[in-house]
Amino acid sequence: MESTLQTLRHKAFEELRSLQDVRALDDWRVQYLGKKSELTQISRQMGALSPEERPVVGEKVNEARGALQRAYEEMQAELAQRELNRRFAEETIDVTVPGRRHARGSMHPLTQIIQEIEEVFLGMGYEVVEGPEIETDEYNFEKLNLPKHHPARDMQDTFYLTETLLLRTQTSPMQVRTMERMRPHVPVKVIVPGKVYRRDEDDATHSHMFHQIEGLVVDEGVRMSDLKGTLEHFARAIFGANQSVRLRPSFFPFTEPSAELDIRCTNCGGSGCRMCKGTGWLEILGCGMVHPKVLDGAGYDSRRYSGFAFGMGPERIAMLKYGIEDIRLLYQNDLRLLRQFNRVL
Ligand code: DAH
Repeated sequence: MESTLQTLRHKAFEELRSLQDVRALDDWRVQYLGKKSELTQISRQMGALSPEERPVVGEKVNEARGALQRAYEEMQAELAQRELNRRFAEETIDVTVPGRRHARGSMHPLTQIIQEIEEVFLGMGYEVVEGPEIETDEYNFEKLNLPKHHPARDMQDTFYLTETLLLRTQTSPMQVRTMERMRPHVPVKVIVPGKVYRRDEDDATHSHMFHQIEGLVVDEGVRMSDLKGTLEHFARAIFGANQSVRLRPSFFPFTEPSAELDIRCTNCGGSGCRMCKGTGWLEILGCGMVHPKVLDGAGYDSRRYSGFAFGMGPERIAMLKYGIEDIRLLYQNDLRLLRQFNRVL
């Protein structure tokens, strides 16, 4: 009996030492410590022994079982530790490997210029407001002194949605909407950035959708010189402190008098070139004193109040400022263009 136990222990330890994983260890446990193990069978046969032999053999069997059980537990701990070490080695993070670079986006040059222009006017106490792109004929034309069949409507070929609804051709209807909202409060000082639409063939200088920024000031005693000073400040803020400007007489139905603002040619500095067609000047916006009919119609008595208005195209301003020669480049989102405006924000 004793030698059987000895052989058993020997064999069991031998096998245990060569085990590589937890699954094999479990099989080992079943084989040497389980219900059908040799050790269990030996215990069962103890009934056949004499009363003197029984405690002696019992002790030996228990001792063997204890030894195997301890060996099993030690091996279990060791295998668990080995497994942990293996995973540590496998999952080591190499902090010296260079990271993957993420492309950083930036604001579109048009968005940048619109925000830059907004900043200039915010600095002069203006409020930024927005309005609907689907407008009524009434606000886009009628209330701006452009009755039906007025020839000036042809200046802006219109996308009509119905008899009375259209895609706004200009941000000027927001002059009227703003006055109607604010009356009788003064001063009114707003700029209105937004999209406008015209039935034009797209080419280097035309687009069926583009942007405008409208400006409106209404108060008592607003004069043409206020308009000129404001626009001069704006032009210098955007195009450089030594810019000079001029107002050239023009016509718009909703302003009287009307003018266009020119800046010195950004290309030749005024000596005359292809870009300014030899004149030395570039037109950048339309403006004027708000027509008395428009003021009265929107609820500001033109005998007491006066105002000025202006409307500019940020595309044109961006093109002049950055020397972009085709307006379509501003809508194509070609990264080669956009990256040039990828300044840190
Ligand atoms: N709305 C005009 C256009 O689209 C631009 C304009 C001219 C706006 C004179 C004004 C203005 O506010 O006073 O051509």
